[in-house]
Amino acid sequence: MDYEKLSQEHFDRQAAEYDSRDTFYYSREGKISCCDIAQYLQNVEYSNLLDVGCGTGFLFDLLQKQRAAEYVGLDLSSKMIEVALSKNIPNATFIQGKANRLPFEDQAFDVVVCSQSFHHYPYQNEALQETLRVLRPRGLFILSDSGLGGFSAWFDNNILFKLLRSGDCYIQNRKSVEKQMKNAGFEIIDSRQLTWMIYTVVGRKN
Ligand SMILES: C[S@@+](CC[C@H](N)C(=O)[O-])C[C@H]1O[C@@H](n2cnc3c(N)ncnc32)[C@H](O)[C@@H]1O
Repeated sequence: MDYEKLSQEHFDRQAAEYDSRDTFYYSREGKISCCDIAQYLQNVEYSNLLDVGCGTGFLFDLLQKQRAAEYVGLDLSSKMIEVALSKNIPNATFIQGKANRLPFEDQAFDVVVCSQSFHHYPYQNEALQETLRVLRPRGLFILSDSGLGGFSAWFDNNILFKLLRSGDCYIQNRKSVEKQMKNAGFEIIDSRQLTWMIYTVVGRKN
């Protein structure tokens, strides 16, 4: 199953109404994650930030109001990028690309974030290595996503996502993501559950 192609098609289809449909499966989870990321970043000094799987740029709308910095968004879906560009968010640039091939120099960013996108990646470990590469030493990676563990995760990953064909690929719970990030080389400096399903984990590159 080509999850990347399915994600691209799914979000190209959703792009025009993604922001306005504030429901499960559209932007509800993304808005919860983005608000949490923005709140966390209120107390973080940074001069530039990359949002991987940025979608329609909802996060940058929040962030540019609280800190003047350079904001770069990358997304697989050209239609989501079109919506983001149409907002003319100050100090923000958007490009189409893939989470496992980030078109940036080594150590280019102070902060990398990823909101409700990671579970779409068929190459999650590669994406984590790319994130580490583009982060400066002591840079932060904030991953906010949805997922449960146990039978629910097994059912979603092995049955439901194959039927939905929406590009959802692999969900896991917060503890499992923490372990994955640790194994990739991040130090976990914060981790919290936002709802029964949504969580944020913050890792630091040492
Ligand atoms: C649920 S949306 C979240 C958008 C935004 N981050 C938010 O929180 O509202 C998931 C986004 O991840 C993007 N995406 C999926 N797979 C991707 C990949 N392999 N590389 C980059 N972006 C990807 C999709 O195109 C989509 O815009």
